[in-house]
Amino acid sequence: MANTDNLEDKKLLCVGLICLDVIHVCNSYPFEGTDQRIKKMTWQKGGNAANTSAVLGLLGNKVDFLGVFPKDTKDLFQKSACSFVRQEMERCGVGLEQMSLVGDSDLPYSSVVINDETGSRTILHCPGLLREVSFNFFQKLDLSAYSWIHFEGRNTEEVVKMICHVVKYNEGQDEANRVKMSVELEKPHRRNLPLLLPHADLVLISQEYARDSGYNNAPDTVKAFKDHVKSSAGIVCAWGELGAASGVSGAVGDVIMTPAFSPERALDTLGAGDTFLGALLHARLRTTNLPSIVKFACKVAGRKVGSYGYECLRDFSQTVE
Ligand code: ADP
Ligand code: FRU
Repeated sequence: MANTDNLEDKKLLCVGLICLDVIHVCNSYPFEGTDQRIKKMTWQKGGNAANTSAVLGLLGNKVDFLGVFPKDTKDLFQKSACSFVRQEMERCGVGLEQMSLVGDSDLPYSSVVINDETGSRTILHCPGLLREVSFNFFQKLDLSAYSWIHFEGRNTEEVVKMICHVVKYNEGQDEANRVKMSVELEKPHRRNLPLLLPHADLVLISQEYARDSGYNNAPDTVKAFKDHVKSSAGIVCAWGELGAASGVSGAVGDVIMTPAFSPERALDTLGAGDTFLGALLHARLRTTNLPSIVKFACKVAGRKVGSYGYECLRDFSQTVE
């Protein structure tokens, strides 16, 4: 079913983390205490919400990113990292005007090991002096500019207030102008994440979060979370090379498992989930058919996993079926 709600005039917004990823592509996973050569070392912008907004930008959507970003840092590494990350985001077509510039914060960074034998990624994250987006900052946004807001599952207390603010805004709007919302539950150690669920139109649950909640496959996770979301919300659970399960709350019909689109060789799985989510939102703005949305997301994520970085998505020309 075609559904191109406000595609021309309104934007998406992704709220969450931005950081620098320092990536080491190794021939095999390193042993502790050895001194060895690696294939290459690169910098990339990172952070779930930053990656997801960049994927949305690369797929041709109008998108803004909102996260905390250091203001006027004097530290040379931080200065270079900030300038690099900003330029990468802009090259992906992401609007950065809404970022919350904070004086006493660092740009977090991750050291990432990519094992060239398997494409696996191991992330060592350094939050530094990380600040989170505050509700006070968020409430100054002009919500009429957006058709969809995605919240990364972090900073729960403040994000719950942001979601309630959007719900209140929506009460005064006709259906066409209401802002839809999605949330991602990824890291089990983040407290109270289920509080983000009740108003979401689309929920993404990671394999790590599902396992920590006691589920050992994607369909069971979707079935279980159907009871925690509002009626007609879509629930998706991604499960690496097995693909993703999805279902609609309150709807008749089973949970569907959509297989992954495996590339000839998995080279780089860093950000596969963020890419999958960006593609999911891209597709959701164009159709309400959940299996089609998830199929498209698996195709885009499969393409990404077959190449290093995200540039391969610039010419991704397949459309949502
Ligand atoms: P995360 O990066 O959050 O751990 P997943 O590993 O669950 O996310 O991957 C998200 C999606 O990316 C999967 O649903 C799948 O479509 C795709 N994907 C991940 N790994 C592979 C792989 N090795 N081959 C093909 N597709 C993959
Ligand atoms: C990938 C990612 C990386 C970042 C890390 C933060 O999903 O967003 O870009 O370093 O996760 O947890």
